[in-house]
Order: sequence, then C-alpha cells, then structure tokens
Amino acid sequence: MENTIELIAEQLDRHAIAIIDNLLPEDVLQDLLSETKQLLNEFQPALIGRGITEQRISEVRGDRILWLEKDQLTKSQEIYFQFLEQLRERLSNYFRIGLPWFECHLATYPVGSFYTKHFDQFRETNNRIFSVILYLNEAWVPENAGQLRIYEGDEHYDIEPKMGRLVCFRSDLVEHEVLKTTQPRFSITGWIRRDEPTPVFL
Ligand code: OGA
Ligand code: MN
Repeated sequence: MENTIELIAEQLDRHAIAIIDNLLPEDVLQDLLSETKQLLNEFQPALIGRGITEQRISEVRGDRILWLEKDQLTKSQEIYFQFLEQLRERLSNYFRIGLPWFECHLATYPVGSFYTKHFDQFRETNNRIFSVILYLNEAWVPENAGQLRIYEGDEHYDIEPKMGRLVCFRSDLVEHEVLKTTQPRFSITGWIRRDEPTPVFL
C-alpha cells in the first residue's frame, strides 16, 4: 500500500491526476459493492447549491449519494478509510500543505444519469484539495458508457469506471464530467480537505 500511495503522490505532482487499478483485494471490493447496493434505499439526490429545484439539479447531475460517517463503517469501508487516511497524511507531507480532513460518500448513477462538466472546488470556498474516487462496477464494458471524462484544455480523454480503479485528482485544476450511463454505476467519492469541517447545529 505504501508504494501505491507514493505512486499516487508522484502522478499527482506530474499530471494533477493519478489512476491506480486493483486498489484493494477482490473480496474487499465485492463487500464494498454489495454493502453499497444494500444501502441504496437510503441514498438521496446530490445537491448543487441552494435555491435550486430538484428538476434543475437533475439537468446538472443525476447521482444519488449517501455520506459515510467514520464511526459507522462496515469492515470493508473501514479498510478503504484506512487507505484514505494514509493517503491524506502522505499527500499532506508530500505537497507540504495542511490536509487535516477527508469526507466521503457512496454514489450511484441510475441508468440515464450523468454529471455535466465541472470542477469539484465549490465556487465560494476552496477547501477541497484532492478528489478521490473508487469505482465498484463489475465487468464494466464501454457500451455501459458512464465514463469519467477528463478535460485538458481543448482535449479530453475518458476513464472507464472499472471495479477497483482509483482516480485521484486536484479538485481545483481538473475539469471533468460523468457521461450518461446505460447501467447503474457505483462508486465511493471523497475529498481530502485543507480544513476541519465546521460543526453544524440543527
Ligand atoms: C463528483 C464526480 C466523478 C465520477 O462526484 O464530483 O465528478 O466518476 N464524480 O464518479
Ligand atoms: Mn466531480
């Protein structure tokens, strides 16, 4: 795992994006996928800022998400969080920036959904430094579509959301989109942040 993390840091340094296959053992990936499917009825539509109607949101992004809480993880989620914790610490040292926190949600794109071209840093704030996505799609074939499209100036290339593939990129630099999927698409998406979360009192 240490070598993998070093490779991610070096790729990020050179290209602002890192792609790693077979991140976790097959049995851990299978558990992550089946647990994600079991929780599907708790997923909520993802949001894109205040004051926007749900219909408007679905023209921008159609994914449904469930935030993960660090004290309520399954065994396999715990294994993935241990990896994210090591990655957070190493990237903080490597790039010499304080990265005290990461946040993470399960995500699914139902058939026909997509996420239009965007950056992951919120316009008002710049607390998301690295985006980290682990894909959980078995036997993914190009006809399933739902690729992650990465923009580099006028050019772009597509990444298949294959089981066990990790994509990590600079949240402020890498413009991307999720192409319309023809199969339900599963992933765990997280952000390594440069701040602690502000407590929310309800
Ligand atoms: C996101 C996002 C990409 C993907 O959730 O912000 O861009 O491939 N996800 O799931
Ligand atoms: Mn994004």
